[in-house]
Amino acid sequence: MLRVDAVFARAAEIAARVETVHRPYVAWIGATPVAYGWSAAGRTRFGLPPVSFSVPPGDRYLMDFAALPAWRGRGIYPGLLQAILEAEATDAARFWVLHHRGNVASARGIEKAGFKLAAEIWFLDEGGLGLVDAGSEERAREGGGLLGLPVVEK
Ligand SMILES: CC(C)(COP(=O)(O)OP(=O)(O)OC[C@H]1O[C@@H](n2cnc3c(N)ncnc32)[C@H](O)[C@@H]1OP(=O)(O)O)[C@@H](O)C(=O)NCCC(=O)NCCS
Repeated sequence: MLRVDAVFARAAEIAARVETVHRPYVAWIGATPVAYGWSAAGRTRFGLPPVSFSVPPGDRYLMDFAALPAWRGRGIYPGLLQAILEAEATDAARFWVLHHRGNVASARGIEKAGFKLAAEIWFLDEGGLGLVDAGSEERAREGGGLLGLPVVEK
């Protein structure tokens, strides 16, 4: 049985994130912590070099997830994502999560949690990043608005 708790610890980075209204979650199997991840609100960033953006009220950006290696492949990541969606459903209507293109495990877990692909992020020839529609123009536009990046043709 998978149990998910919101956790508030005091390590420096965690404290800084919590102060910017980010919320950490830990998934447990019995007494064993098996996975963690964050739900971000307000100012945050992704990638390297980092792209800073603001998560508007009513949205959440889910980030920085990992399942312990011994527990992978058991649906814990999608279970944790779903538990966060449920826990935050009263405060947020729209949730965003990114994965690296080559991270198949992450992509599969996100898909299993019920997310729909909004867009792909590409390096642009002229520099910077842009979003390419991946099936829904509207979602791509909303994703571009969230990240402060243009939607471009491939
Ligand atoms: C991505 C990650 C969180 C997925 O967690 P998980 O609880 O194993 O997720 P799932 O059980 O849904 O498995 C997802 C996919 O992982 C792959 N997988 C299955 N068993 C695996 C194993 N033993 N080891 C690694 N990957 C495995 C499969 O592709 C699986 O999809 P499938 O079941 O449809 O074939 C985990 O692999 C991880 O911590 N990776 C390192 C950190 C990371 O990439 N974080 C994501 C940042 S967004």
